[in-house]
Amino acid sequence: MPGVLVRTDNADIVKDADVVILAVKPYQVVDALMPIRNVLGGDKLLISVVAGVTTRILEGLVGARVVRAMPNIGIVIERGVTAVSPGSRASEADVKVACGIFSSMGRCFIVDERYMDAITAISGSGPAFISVILEALWEAGLLLGIPTDISWELAIGTLESSAELLRVKRPWDVIEEVTTPGGVTIRGLRVAEEGGLRGLIMRMIEEGARRAREISQEVEARVRSMIGEQGRNI
Ligand SMILES: NC(=O)c1ccc[n+]([C@@H]2O[C@H](COP(=O)([O-])OP(=O)(O)OC[C@H]3O[C@@H](n4cnc5c(N)ncnc54)[C@H](OP(=O)(O)O)[C@@H]3O)[C@@H](O)[C@H]2O)c1
Repeated sequence: MPGVLVRTDNADIVKDADVVILAVKPYQVVDALMPIRNVLGGDKLLISVVAGVTTRILEGLVGARVVRAMPNIGIVIERGVTAVSPGSRASEADVKVACGIFSSMGRCFIVDERYMDAITAISGSGPAFISVILEALWEAGLLLGIPTDISWELAIGTLESSAELLRVKRPWDVIEEVTTPGGVTIRGLRVAEEGGLRGLIMRMIEEGARRAREISQEVEARVRSMIGEQGRNI
């Protein structure tokens, strides 16, 4: 890939960088950062996209200025939504640099870090949840005998147009416009209410956010045990 420099030694690549992006799995964070902590000082900006790992944990591991980000998979088509939060050492300029990077792949929002676990569950995991809903819509078409391709196009087309419409209208206005008294839509909506659809979706997000919190506690416990093992003040 033009302009991309590949190295096998992390310290080698980090020492010449102004901005370092940390994109490993949460359980890999300590192993990835410890060997390079000497070259990851206050002259570097570390942008972490790792789910559940707080700026406080990262600042305990390295001396760099830290910005935490939660992008979503939409970035692969330049329609991502990314939330960023500055750590205690990050400047406004650092946040701008981070948001500048993610804005080139969609939209970027600056948020207080206390919302990150919820954001991870909503926009980070959200594409998986929406995919399940879309798949069910497509399968419902199959259940009712609609040919596969047509059912898929109807399902995804409905999702696309609803998303566009909901940029200019509120959900309750769309619901009112589509729902004829005594008609088809209200029958379906009653089943959704009886099945607790809204509560189910809220619980999905709540559970995801809980897991994000658990991950940060697990990584923090790992960092603390390393302090014990190595007798270092990290
Ligand atoms: N996927 C999403 O939609 C999404 C959204 C927001 C945030 N995130 C976060 O992004 C992070 C990465 O997710 P992913 O799905 O891209 O995971 P992934 O595919 O497993 O990528 C992790 C990468 O880190 C590399 N790596 C591991 N240890 C390393 C080390 N010590 N030094 C250098 N490279 C190392 C791995 O290389 P090898 O394979 O060679 O080991 C791999 O390329 C996770 O923390 C996740 O929470 C993901």
